[in-house]
Amino acid sequence: MRVAEPTAQSVAEAARLLRDGQLVAFPTETVYGLGGDATNERAVAAIFAAKGRPQFNPLISHVLDAEAAQQFVRWNDTADRLAARFWPGPLTLVLPRSEGSPIALLATAGLDTVAIRAPAHPVAQALIRATGRPIAGPSANRSGAVSPTRAEHVAESLGDRVPLILDGGPCLVGVESTVLDLSAATPTLLRPGGVPREAIEAVIGPISVSHALPSGDSPHKSPGQLASHYAPARPVRLGATSAGPDEGLLAFGPSVPPGAMLTYNLSPSGDLAEAAANLFAQMRALDRPGIGRIAVMAIPETGLGLAINDRLRRAAADDGTAR
Ligand code: TXA
Ligand code: MG
Repeated sequence: MRVAEPTAQSVAEAARLLRDGQLVAFPTETVYGLGGDATNERAVAAIFAAKGRPQFNPLISHVLDAEAAQQFVRWNDTADRLAARFWPGPLTLVLPRSEGSPIALLATAGLDTVAIRAPAHPVAQALIRATGRPIAGPSANRSGAVSPTRAEHVAESLGDRVPLILDGGPCLVGVESTVLDLSAATPTLLRPGGVPREAIEAVIGPISVSHALPSGDSPHKSPGQLASHYAPARPVRLGATSAGPDEGLLAFGPSVPPGAMLTYNLSPSGDLAEAAANLFAQMRALDRPGIGRIAVMAIPETGLGLAINDRLRRAAADDGTAR
């Protein structure tokens, strides 16, 4: 495994690897992606293998823009308005697979829909352009682990399972894209993420929210989705208002309870965008020997707080399986 600064040369090399069916980890504005040629089933299978995914969850195909997306999906009016407002950016649209769409079936886990997005990161864009193909890319971590927001997270998690990592620095958004299903009559939020629900509704009006989303106080286990998807190795306690000496504290806001063994603050000023960008890196930093448990202070359930809390609830949901 090699970590390379993104230059014209390293991007060209990465594109060669991708066209050859190999994998490349690349930065996006949300998290690092584990990229493979989305039209090559073997490359897509290699993605699942490298991640050690227990299921073939469908993957997002990354493209340059709305025009490119229309080669792969049946586009519609709603998609057009949302792409005009949020692309390139952290919004994934689920649309019907178009007739003769070359997207690998494994990439869509056999579904007749395709998840597609145009990432805002210049290195991701350069890579897509140089490859000349849509790039399938889940987060570049082993299945069930915390999503990577820095090149070194990818290297730690995947090691030699990926030949090349393009290092684009820390990801600015820090949580994955919002996934919105536009394949049925009513647009449905499948995963909260970098584009808040309110921002989407400001463009297309009310949307519905998938019941599969974890909500309320108890971890919700939905079929086909690992409840513990974003789990660190240590147990996670939510809604902390105090912290014990065996705990690592993930704080939020200006008033932080004393007493933890180690404390990181997602955002001392209480800024949700800053908190999202710090979330995975700080969770990793607290997930280390000597710390018995990770305590997390409450995060407001608005805007990006939805996506942050979704990840935190998954991190706290222990389904008892090995990670
Ligand atoms: O920000 C992101 O979205 C990152 C970066 C790398 O782009 N990618 C990412 O991919 O988070 P992944 O594979 O970890 O998550 C893809 C999500 C999953 O929740 C999956 O179930 C959903 O998108 N998805 C993909 N295809 C779908 C489809 N055809 N129908 C419904 N959901 C789909
Ligand atoms: Mg992931």
